[in-house]
Amino acid sequence: MSSTAEALSPERSPADALAQRVVDAALGTVDILSIYLGDRLGWYRSLDVDGPATADELAARTGTNSRYTREWLEQQAVTGLLDVADGEHPSFALSRAGAEVFADEHSLAYLAPLARLLCGAAKRLPELLEAYRSGGGVGWARYGRDARDGQADMNRPWYEHSLADALGSIPEVDRLLRAPGSMLADLGCGGGWSTIALARAYPEATVRGVDIDRATVELARANVAAAPEVAVRVTVTEADAAALPRGGYQAVFAFECVHDMPRPVEVLAAARRALAPGGVMIVMDEAVADTFAAPGDETERLMYGFSLTVCLPDGMAHPASVATGTVMRADTLRRYAEAAGFAEFEVLPIEDFGFWRFYLLRE
Ligand SMILES: C[S@@+](CC[C@H](N)C(=O)[O-])C[C@H]1O[C@@H](n2cnc3c(N)ncnc32)[C@H](O)[C@@H]1O
Repeated sequence: MSSTAEALSPERSPADALAQRVVDAALGTVDILSIYLGDRLGWYRSLDVDGPATADELAARTGTNSRYTREWLEQQAVTGLLDVADGEHPSFALSRAGAEVFADEHSLAYLAPLARLLCGAAKRLPELLEAYRSGGGVGWARYGRDARDGQADMNRPWYEHSLADALGSIPEVDRLLRAPGSMLADLGCGGGWSTIALARAYPEATVRGVDIDRATVELARANVAAAPEVAVRVTVTEADAAALPRGGYQAVFAFECVHDMPRPVEVLAAARRALAPGGVMIVMDEAVADTFAAPGDETERLMYGFSLTVCLPDGMAHPASVATGTVMRADTLRRYAEAAGFAEFEVLPIEDFGFWRFYLLRE
């Protein structure tokens, strides 16, 4: 406990204060688990699309059990996530804010996927214990659909709303991307939302998404197919980004994936070789502090959480891994970029873009 916290509550012992913090964390965990249930069982969606419901109505609408819907609805009201209108059969409703946070996949406030991602990680705890003992890992594919969808849907609104403006705010980059016939690559493209957003923002460009995980590639292809206005200019390939062929790309992107890669220098070197003369690589990764310092801010705390449960074990699931983890500091990426043969490295002046920071790498 910090001396400041003790000074603020002199009547509370440090042990009591710490115990309270654990209780608060337990309450947050309960919320996350309940959000996962409401998301995956379609309960939030039903309350959003079909309106308020009693427990019986919600069960009937979603093909679930009414004893469970009652417990969940009451829990959601008690914890303050749903509104309730009392009556013989209470009716429960999503507020406007709740509709955005739990059911609107286009909103920057949409955070149901965060519960999916965390619960997907929690399902792997027995394997994580084993990996922590042996020094092995847990590969991304093992985290399954919850993590895959959670990851893709968490980032989607940022790409849809903010990527075009962010790139447009850097004139040099915008000019390159706008060039007639420009070719762009999106490494570690995940669900393809960044790939689609690039194609939407730059109507002259062809965009190639690359991901090493088959199920992820299938997800990305399905998402691209559902965006017919860009589908003809977008391809998604299942491949190791380190095998990216020389390609004359004006820009190669890597959105929130370099820290996951077991051998990032190989991937960055392949990206460099694949660039056309004058081309650039743009990396978006976590906006963590420049150096380790404790206590850290919310971004740092969240990223260490992902690192413990997903990204570090994923990185360590492969041979000869540099084991970066989610907390990839700017200097770490700078080192990787230099080792990959990039001569220039800069942090782009793109602010307020979720948890992320943009880097530009140039020969
Ligand atoms: C944290 S996810 C980010 C996905 C996506 N860029 C996004 O912003 O949502 C990391 C992705 O990188 C992919 N990946 C990891 N190593 C890779 C490699 N060597 N080549 C291609 N993709 C890789 C994983 O399969 C996963 O889909």
